[in-house]
Amino acid sequence: MRIKEEFAHVIKQQLEGQWDRRKIEWMIEKPKHEHMGDLAFPCFELAKAFRKSPKMIAEELSEKISASFIEKVEAIGGYVNVFLNREMITTEVMAEILAAQENYGKAIFGNGKVITVDFSSPNIAKPFSMGHLRSTVIGHSLSLIAEKCGYNPVKINHIGDWGTQFGKLITAYRLWGDEETVKKEPIKELLKLYVQFHEEAKENPDLEEQGRNWFKKLEEGHEEAISLWTWFRDESLKEFGKIYDKLGITFDSQAGEAFYNDKMKRVVELLEYKGVLVESEGAKVVPFEGMPPCLIKKRDGSTLYATRDLAAAMYRQKKYGFAKSLYVVGSEQSLHFKQLFAVLRKIGCEWEQGMAHVPFGMMLKDGKKMSTRKGKVVLLDEVLEEAVYQAMKNINDKNPHLEDKEEVARHVGTGAVIFHDLKHFRLHDVEFSLEDMLTFEGETGPYIQYTHARASSLLRKGRFNDSQQYTSAMEDSSAWPVVVSLMQFPDVIKRSFDAYDPSQVAKYVVELARAFNHYYGSVRILDDPEQIQSRLSLVHSVKIVLKEGLRLLGMEAPEKM
Ligand code: ARG
Repeated sequence: MRIKEEFAHVIKQQLEGQWDRRKIEWMIEKPKHEHMGDLAFPCFELAKAFRKSPKMIAEELSEKISASFIEKVEAIGGYVNVFLNREMITTEVMAEILAAQENYGKAIFGNGKVITVDFSSPNIAKPFSMGHLRSTVIGHSLSLIAEKCGYNPVKINHIGDWGTQFGKLITAYRLWGDEETVKKEPIKELLKLYVQFHEEAKENPDLEEQGRNWFKKLEEGHEEAISLWTWFRDESLKEFGKIYDKLGITFDSQAGEAFYNDKMKRVVELLEYKGVLVESEGAKVVPFEGMPPCLIKKRDGSTLYATRDLAAAMYRQKKYGFAKSLYVVGSEQSLHFKQLFAVLRKIGCEWEQGMAHVPFGMMLKDGKKMSTRKGKVVLLDEVLEEAVYQAMKNINDKNPHLEDKEEVARHVGTGAVIFHDLKHFRLHDVEFSLEDMLTFEGETGPYIQYTHARASSLLRKGRFNDSQQYTSAMEDSSAWPVVVSLMQFPDVIKRSFDAYDPSQVAKYVVELARAFNHYYGSVRILDDPEQIQSRLSLVHSVKIVLKEGLRLLGMEAPEKM
């Protein structure tokens, strides 16, 4: 039941003139205190339009308003405050959830249209850092939320497997590398070589030149260069694959940057044909007003990150016919995406309208940016291991005989890491803290999962069976905030999609869990045979919505913990 929508409709009916229902809905607030009602409509804007005092308008409206879902209306200081008919709403909300089950909150406005989500996109031969975790979990969650809204998401991992850095890496490997060591711990060893390259290049500038040469050879298809590159790439993808398995993430495409090598010539030709390319110091660029030019081709003829992204965008439009196309990439690349979209606009690609950069803040360590180059980096793989280990320790302390301990520990440990990231609004920087992540209390993944397990356990103990439906009104006043929260779920999903912001779902599940735990603490749910059915229906509704909320964040909801 979309209660705000209904309330807005009731108000609109009482107003003469052009008052948009959506605008009214948007103005509706929650009263400051619970005893003042469930919803409040401020009359200040109407007062201006009708040249009356807000108090008068509120009083007039309160007199006239009535609807089956409204119990009582009060005019308080320029607001129309409404007390909802709890019995009716509770019945309706629960009937809706129990009928829809995990489909509760599903929207259809996506109309089956394709939305490509470019996320994760780590660079090969470098460790999968905590920085990449942000893109991975935000992007994954967004594709799940998009699907819930009726879109057809295509998840793309735009692997960073091309560029001058591979010339440097080949140089370093040929100078100091050892096959056996690399085979044993590929990513660690390759990172070491990469760091060493930058250290030594400070003293010996000739190294940079060698790096450029090796990249050139790579681009020209030189045999040794290609075979080293392929080896580094395969090893890296294997390592990344382990992490995606742990996180439970799959992709529809892992076409990386190198995939576009044979598609860039046409892009450059097209730009030339459209007359948007100009020469600048031997390089080819697309110039803009009020923004630095987009570099398309270097003086030595090699292409760039932007060229590959142009080719990728055109390829994706052709292959998937996307209506929307998201790039979940750190905010330090904002200029790059602005330029990318602007080039496409300039050559008349109208579908560019549906593209968006979804930026996010940095992962900080002790307030500073984490960087791979200086080797000052926390490896995601180690973090996940540690989180799972801690979760296991916790289980062994509290519930040593739990079945499927390993699996539960994995779901709780990785869930903790995912939730720690997603609970922050994406544009905020996140301070990396293993400790915070792994606290199993407060606003954390394990807290939500624990609440879900608690609900599951109640249903088992009360022998709740699915076909039993909510029948009578509950007399528990602490149930109401739970119902109000459950009612908001569809709206939360829609808003989090509109803002491309999974943190709204994360904050929502915290609220629902809190309301439910308060209810749990104040009502002996299984005690009264008269009420047990109704109460367990509520518990079941909470379980359904918590589980679905966690799923949308990319997390599992264990039955027992
Ligand atoms: N590999 C890049 C990086 O780690 C991110 C790529 C993002 N996606 C894209 N289509 N540019 O910085």
